[in-house]
Amino acid sequence: MVPLIGLIVTAFLWILPAAIANGVPVLVGGGKPIDFGKTMKDGKRLLGDGKTLRGFFSGIVIGSLVGIVQGRAELGILLAFGALAGDLVGSFLKRRAGTERGHRVWALDQYDFLIGALLFAAIIEIPELTLLAAILIITPLLHIATNYCAYKLKLKKVPW
Ligand code: CTP
Ligand code: MG
Repeated sequence: MVPLIGLIVTAFLWILPAAIANGVPVLVGGGKPIDFGKTMKDGKRLLGDGKTLRGFFSGIVIGSLVGIVQGRAELGILLAFGALAGDLVGSFLKRRAGTERGHRVWALDQYDFLIGALLFAAIIEIPELTLLAAILIITPLLHIATNYCAYKLKLKKVPW
């Protein structure tokens, strides 16, 4: 039991800069969309109004700061940047599939930022297998729980 709790805590702390980076835009996002309203040939937005410059940069800055406070500046910056980059890729794919901004796509919504964060982090560090497995299980659960709370607190219009 105790080793399992230790693993969960380690996974949580490892991914924290990415998780915070992903959550910050919900609180401080808004303003100009990253795609500047651009529509692609398919008639759909490149990314949509849910991806803003302010959300993107504030997420990277705050997420990186968390990493710096944790004493792992380089990894924190990669995790934060990777999270926001992965989130953009997720929205790009959602728009291409014709999914409206803010509509739910299971797995993509929970994993886009996580995969982005892990890929960029892999430049300097790949977690060992048990830790990686824990991260891949815990982070989406954390994402679902925090989004539900944000919805209940009226910070988000939808619980995902
Ligand atoms: N947000 C932002 N800028 C970003 C990412 C997120 O401003 N780069 C803000 C937006 O207000 C967005 C909210 O955080 O509505 C929640 O983010 P997310 O769920 O990723 O966006 P959705 O609105 O659901 O849009 P999409 O369908 O593209 O995922
Ligand atoms: Mg969403």
